[in-house]
Amino acid sequence: MPADVTMDKIVSLCKRRGFIFPSSEIYGGLGSCWDYGPMGVELKRNVKNAWWRTIVQERDDVVGIDTSIMMHPAVWKASGHVDSFTDPLVECKSCHLRWRADEIENQKCPQCGGDLTEPRMFNLMFRTFMGPLEETASTVYLRPETAQGIFVNFENVVTTSRKKLPLGIAQIGKSFRNEITPGNFIFRTREFEHMELEYFVKPGTDDGWLDYWVKQRLDWYMSLGITKENLRLRQHGKDELAHYAKDCYDVEYLFPMGWSELEGIANRSDYDLTQHAKHSGKDLSYYDGQDGERYVPYVIEPSAGVDRSVLAFLVDSYHEEVVEGGNRVVLRLHPSLAPMKVAVLPLSRNERLSPLARDVYRRLCSSFMADYDDSQSIGRRYRRQDEIGTPFCVTVDFESLQDNQVTIRERDSLAQIRLPLEELDEALRAKLSGEAFDATTLWATREK
Ligand code: GAP
Repeated sequence: MPADVTMDKIVSLCKRRGFIFPSSEIYGGLGSCWDYGPMGVELKRNVKNAWWRTIVQERDDVVGIDTSIMMHPAVWKASGHVDSFTDPLVECKSCHLRWRADEIENQKCPQCGGDLTEPRMFNLMFRTFMGPLEETASTVYLRPETAQGIFVNFENVVTTSRKKLPLGIAQIGKSFRNEITPGNFIFRTREFEHMELEYFVKPGTDDGWLDYWVKQRLDWYMSLGITKENLRLRQHGKDELAHYAKDCYDVEYLFPMGWSELEGIANRSDYDLTQHAKHSGKDLSYYDGQDGERYVPYVIEPSAGVDRSVLAFLVDSYHEEVVEGGNRVVLRLHPSLAPMKVAVLPLSRNERLSPLARDVYRRLCSSFMADYDDSQSIGRRYRRQDEIGTPFCVTVDFESLQDNQVTIRERDSLAQIRLPLEELDEALRAKLSGEAFDATTLWATREK
């Protein structure tokens, strides 16, 4: 991340270009809730698709699942969340702001310096009622992690998928936590999306699999363009491990507010399956036919936040540079994450150009997420596409009407090549999947 990338710049770009808006903005917004706009929804979906492709689609030892947000309340008792999913809460005796005790340095209110109350444990799960009666018996929770939906379906999946261990079950979905101190834009919110894998292994092989998944996950972020120097690993101290964890590593990213957790990769041991077996009365052990043994599997859990990943990809790709004496903001997003893969820009709104340009757009948008823009000067339109991270712009000009050729401009190098329309689809496909942009050809030009 370049030194001058501030959170304010990211928030401002996100608002300006339709990535992320404050939730319920016309009513003044709702603390820590955010809405994804037209560009944000594409970026977020691309992040989820990239994760699913790597974790599920390209592996034969992982299957997917999609479980409900509300689950039987006994799940959360068994999992330990009712008793242990808490943060220590303190309140300022003067201004009454509330803080997480473990984030306070000198035992004084960070806002006004006032004295704080003694810490009390605050459960982070949102509670609601199922059905028309608001009584204790109908209390349900909004899930704080998607993992439990996987554990309670372990037997269903093993039986129906006919797969053997090691076996992973993956899920992407919303989670909810009544965080005491949400903040830093979409870094910590009360409603967010998880991308979680529970990878079930034979006890005794768990340490090796933890190392394996830590490496896989680091590689994933780097394969999508995150700078290596902005990533690091941190092992949890014994005193900070979650109630279910035997060991855990955080993948940390250098966000504008400093190094912070991007993803957690935990060894959850046999804690969850054992707990659910105990509370439900169901035998959740696994018979290993190969070794002729029965055991309760251990679980390695890479657990990532979709929104936090989106933030990391935005921060890492954000660059400011001087082009033609002007300031250019560009998101150098990996092509597979970019909201728009290509933008079709007729040189002007001239009525002779529009039919061809529209035709090019119509042809491209059946293959790629494509944008069409004919307003304002071509320079301003390029800048807009740079700011939303569009890897390629296709310009239709008056010569195109004669020679049936168009110009492709590459976002990062600003190089341009000209090529026949019938080759456009194929050329874009190749370049989006990594083929070098050949700016050494005769037609290559460059914005200075
Ligand atoms: N199932 C294990 C689990 O949930 P976690 O470390 O609490 O572990 C995993 O969360 C990831 O989920 C975090 O690394 C982060 O990316 C994301 N996450 C957690 N709480 C979040 C919040 N309040 N807002 C946004 N993302 C959050």
